[in-house]
Amino acid sequence: MSSEQLMADALSKDELLEKDRHHMWHHLSPYNPNPMIVTEASGAWVTDIDGNRYLDAMSGLWCVNIGYGRQELADAAYEQLKQLAYFPLTQSHVPAIRLAEKVSEWLGGEYRVFFSNSGSEANEVAFKIARQYHQQNGEPGRYKFISRYRAYHGNTMGALAATGQAVRKYKYEPLAPGFLHVSPPYCYRCPFGKSYGSCSLECAQVFDEVINWEGAQTVAAVIMEPVITGGGVIVPPPEYLPKVREICDKYGVLLIIDEVICGFGRSGQKFGHQNFQIKPDIVTMAKGITSAYLPLSATAVRKELADRFLEQGVDQHFRHVNTFGGNPAACALALRNLELLEEEQLIARAAQLGAELRRKLSVLEDHPHVGDIRSFGFICGIEMVENRSSKEPAAPDKVGKVIAECKKRGLIIGRNGDTIPGYSNILTLSPPFATTDEDLAFIVNVLTEAFATL
Ligand SMILES: Cc1ncc(COP(=O)(O)O)c(C=O)c1O
Repeated sequence: MSSEQLMADALSKDELLEKDRHHMWHHLSPYNPNPMIVTEASGAWVTDIDGNRYLDAMSGLWCVNIGYGRQELADAAYEQLKQLAYFPLTQSHVPAIRLAEKVSEWLGGEYRVFFSNSGSEANEVAFKIARQYHQQNGEPGRYKFISRYRAYHGNTMGALAATGQAVRKYKYEPLAPGFLHVSPPYCYRCPFGKSYGSCSLECAQVFDEVINWEGAQTVAAVIMEPVITGGGVIVPPPEYLPKVREICDKYGVLLIIDEVICGFGRSGQKFGHQNFQIKPDIVTMAKGITSAYLPLSATAVRKELADRFLEQGVDQHFRHVNTFGGNPAACALALRNLELLEEEQLIARAAQLGAELRRKLSVLEDHPHVGDIRSFGFICGIEMVENRSSKEPAAPDKVGKVIAECKKRGLIIGRNGDTIPGYSNILTLSPPFATTDEDLAFIVNVLTEAFATL
């Protein structure tokens, strides 16, 4: 029996909660004296300390892609820990080499891979590489980054600066300088007052304007997710990413694609950007790389850029070290995770589940509090409104009620968190690929019942 099981057995739930209240500082959530204590999980389902089972339709934080309880992943980490638990990547080890090769292969081209532990760190690496690349490429003035309002790129001072969600940021400002934001490609509430079909893709064109107005010689890179996920499942028109790529190329600006959520099958392709036929300069990834069984992230950089760091000279290399980044057990586990996604054709399964989920959710389309339903691969967002014609965002208590009614019935769903004031009105779904057909029917039935309580 594990020490954790022994501890859980030895202490009552009340005793554990008491200790939690005294010692724990939880992520993101407001103070909650009674958090759910989860003790085990399998497939798409988690079990709490009272034995209640819940279908986790958020895969934790959009990350347990393969599903819970895969023995093969535990074994891969265990075997690696016995053989070589640690060595820094200032030198090398076999799991990191093999994983870097696999990630590059999944990206369909020649990339060099830098390992860290979290999505935020992967983005920090991307920012530093982009700035240093431009310096070593004879354009030292390029230091600015452009991202979108509503996007989330992480919790560190640079990644949070790239984030376009005021409510998450203002208590910690000033953040890193040099980060600019533009409006997102949000067809349901087009920031440019246009309608898709009769617009000129102003949402992409705005990058041209801002780069020009800022002076292209000062802009290092654009960073974006293929689809804004946590900021409200904001799916761009199909021409958007290719247009942004074209604008970046026109001005010599790098394109960083944040695949922290959209990567590793979540989008129905290996990486989210592959749905839009573009080639990024830098790709950042985390979460699904290990299906969150261990911490690991990566920043993949196109070889032409990486080659700029091979030149001789004291400051020519990338002066960035990360003690835990690319831990051998995490890399071995990630490699097995990617192999299983391939062997069991789980990416095609995710695409199929996503299409089926979207089809089934059409039962909610006429509900008076459902304004829009958006999906991308096996991600779904349900935008709740007070009134379908005014599109006034649903009040927080209504959104909270749907979530609570789902939880009562054994379903965990999410919502876009603190984005911009008044707009935390989008329910989110991102279930594990282990979701069965019955699980999918359960998700839709529970959601339908929860909406019926409004
Ligand atoms: C798109 C995106 N980028 C970056 C991050 C930061 O990842 P981490 O929490 O591992 O630092 C997240 C986390 O949710 C994310 O959703």
